[in-house]
Amino acid sequence: MRVRDFVRENIRKMSPYIPGKSIKYVRETYGVEKIVKLASNENPFGPSPKAVEALKNVSPGELSIYPETFPSELLSAIEFHTGWEPTRVVVGAGLDGVMETLFRIVIDPGDSVILPIPTYPYYHTLLSVFGAKGIFVERNDDFSIDTDRILEACEKEKPKILMLCSPNNPTGNVEKEKTVREIAENCNCLIFIDEAYGEFAEYEGKSLKKFADYENVIIGRTLSKAFGLANLRVGYAVMSEELKREYEKATTPFPISTPAALAASAALRDVYYLNFVLKNIAEERKRLVKELRSTGLMVYDSCSNFLFVKVPNASAFVEKLMRRGIIIRDCSKFIGCKSHVRISVGKKDENDLLIETVREVVSEGW
Ligand SMILES: Cc1ncc(COP(=O)(O)O)c(C=O)c1O
Repeated sequence: MRVRDFVRENIRKMSPYIPGKSIKYVRETYGVEKIVKLASNENPFGPSPKAVEALKNVSPGELSIYPETFPSELLSAIEFHTGWEPTRVVVGAGLDGVMETLFRIVIDPGDSVILPIPTYPYYHTLLSVFGAKGIFVERNDDFSIDTDRILEACEKEKPKILMLCSPNNPTGNVEKEKTVREIAENCNCLIFIDEAYGEFAEYEGKSLKKFADYENVIIGRTLSKAFGLANLRVGYAVMSEELKREYEKATTPFPISTPAALAASAALRDVYYLNFVLKNIAEERKRLVKELRSTGLMVYDSCSNFLFVKVPNASAFVEKLMRRGIIIRDCSKFIGCKSHVRISVGKKDENDLLIETVREVVSEGW
């Protein structure tokens, strides 16, 4: 008996996910003491102290009891933060978990899914796992999506869903409202707007939150980025009440633990701390863009907590920075990317070190 004979062909054919290098790896491999990780778009300030307090206050008795499927306190904190009525909101184990459940609901093997590329790599994983046909539509030079090309692809391919990431990972740009409206009103499929970085865009007045009113639009958010709770795995989405009823059938029964729900609820209600994070990230991002551009690198405008940078040789650049203790993300293997890297915005001292090190590396030549 060979175990692999029982594994679905789709999965056997997939390449494993290659995560970025860890702090431990860089310390052990290069013997560097001070290491700064700017590779995973995490929140360098960590979560709200109120979220940490909520975690500490979880009573041991809670731990042996299954949680509610969609914890009511969490739904009301989401309504407080977004204005979305609890009757239209679902939650999941991270936004990745929410998207997986959505695919379970809508995707049969062979169905088409439109991805404007480059975009978030996990969508490609979902396509492979569910046996969906990926329709890859190239973005414009500024990484905005091309309405005509998307609508043509919808007409021709009859997709089930269009995955629209805004701000887009890894490019950092937000989609224009006009583009989204035109697509939402003329396409023949569901549109999933991934606003994992939506709070950063909202700070700049550029969230696509208002599209939640469209019947065919689903908007996803997460506690992993602006709220600094990546390890608790809390994501949510707003959708029509009808689709929520289907989601309730397809989800795993207990996607979110009570400690995670309580911490997330406290974080969502801590407006003061969220603004502190968003203001700091926006200021540091502006400074980073200016300083990195002054080294001659091509840095794209971003509305998020990371920057997309074009370099002559992405893997060599990433390696040179890593040897000096700075971990950033090589995007050259992302579908639709060529020689690009993604750099998360850190705290001021981390960004200072990054700028100084990039100057050194660039001055050595390529
Ligand atoms: C665009 C995008 N969507 C979704 C996610 C997943 O978020 P979560 O941690 O909530 O699963 C990420 C994480 O990096 C992301 O970049």
